[in-house]
Amino acid sequence: MGQQWQGSVWSASLNVGMASAEQLPLNQATVKITRIIRRMRGGSQAQLVLGDDDNTYVAKFLGNPQGNRTLVNEWVVCRLLSAMRISTPSLRIIELPSSLQPRDELYFLAGNKRILPQGVLHLGSQCPVDPEKTAIFDFLPDRLLPKVCNLAEYAAMYVFDQWVGQSDKRQAIFVSDRKVTAGIGFRGYFVDHGMAFNGDRWQLLDRPRCGLAFQSKVYSSLDLPALVEKALCQIESINETTLFTAAEGVPSSWFASGDQEALDTLLAKLARRQVNLRAVIARHLPALWVYAGVQPVKV
Ligand SMILES: Nc1ncnc2c1ncn2[C@@H]1O[C@H](COP(=O)(O)OP(=O)(O)OP(=O)(O)O)[C@@H](O)[C@H]1O
Ligand SMILES: [Mg+2]
Repeated sequence: MGQQWQGSVWSASLNVGMASAEQLPLNQATVKITRIIRRMRGGSQAQLVLGDDDNTYVAKFLGNPQGNRTLVNEWVVCRLLSAMRISTPSLRIIELPSSLQPRDELYFLAGNKRILPQGVLHLGSQCPVDPEKTAIFDFLPDRLLPKVCNLAEYAAMYVFDQWVGQSDKRQAIFVSDRKVTAGIGFRGYFVDHGMAFNGDRWQLLDRPRCGLAFQSKVYSSLDLPALVEKALCQIESINETTLFTAAEGVPSSWFASGDQEALDTLLAKLARRQVNLRAVIARHLPALWVYAGVQPVKV
């Protein structure tokens, strides 16, 4: 997404990425897991794994406690975000070979029961850097937020999360990026889209405070009206093909009986909300203004 530093605010650049929102090519090749590195925190009980392409992934497995539909949600949202050029890690289908399957570390804990992942094909969210060599931060102190080169994407992400009925807080990771600013600098990547569409319920919620970032300060230096308007235009320009093929590449093993039809219904609802999004956002924006501590502005 094009952004410009204008005095003290991040504003939408008027000439970059404005026109169309087309989906990026899909990398269909499956990556095989060669090593389980460690458990990650979080409700899906993900694992950090090494792939046979030498990249590291946060793997979310079929059978996880948040439900298999949350993997589909991650996929669909990632494809739509990439059409909008919003920073989110690349996703790949990852294969858990049978040689690694019976490993003790791989269980999900449900109460005091240990449950093993199901199936062979799972979801990998690629780490933007090698986490064994370079730090990946879940959080940056407020004073470092102005060093995040793509902070303006938080405004677009709020609009997007309202569109997809996000039921979680907005989460991101940050990695050091010295190319973009002199001295210390970071780039943020939005992660954890499993609770879009209200998780495994596949509903479009209408809740203005959902999708807000953990830190209200991420919004306070942004030119929110301009950025919200830009995001609305970008979402409105996502074409039908991009929207209705967003689940292309999802393995059939992720779908339970009736899920394919339920997904078609959900995407049709998403298309209707795309048309009505301006009205939804107009109702929801006061929550953003209050949270960000800015004067209300009509968009
Ligand atoms: N692509 C990625 N690269 C590096 N770290 C990541 C990536 N994706 C997720 N993480 C890290 O893994 C952790 C778990 O991921 P995520 O939040 O997506 O899982 P979750 O189980 O759905 O969490 P929650 O309980 O919030 O629903 C995150 O807190 C983040 O630190
Ligand atoms: Mg999370």
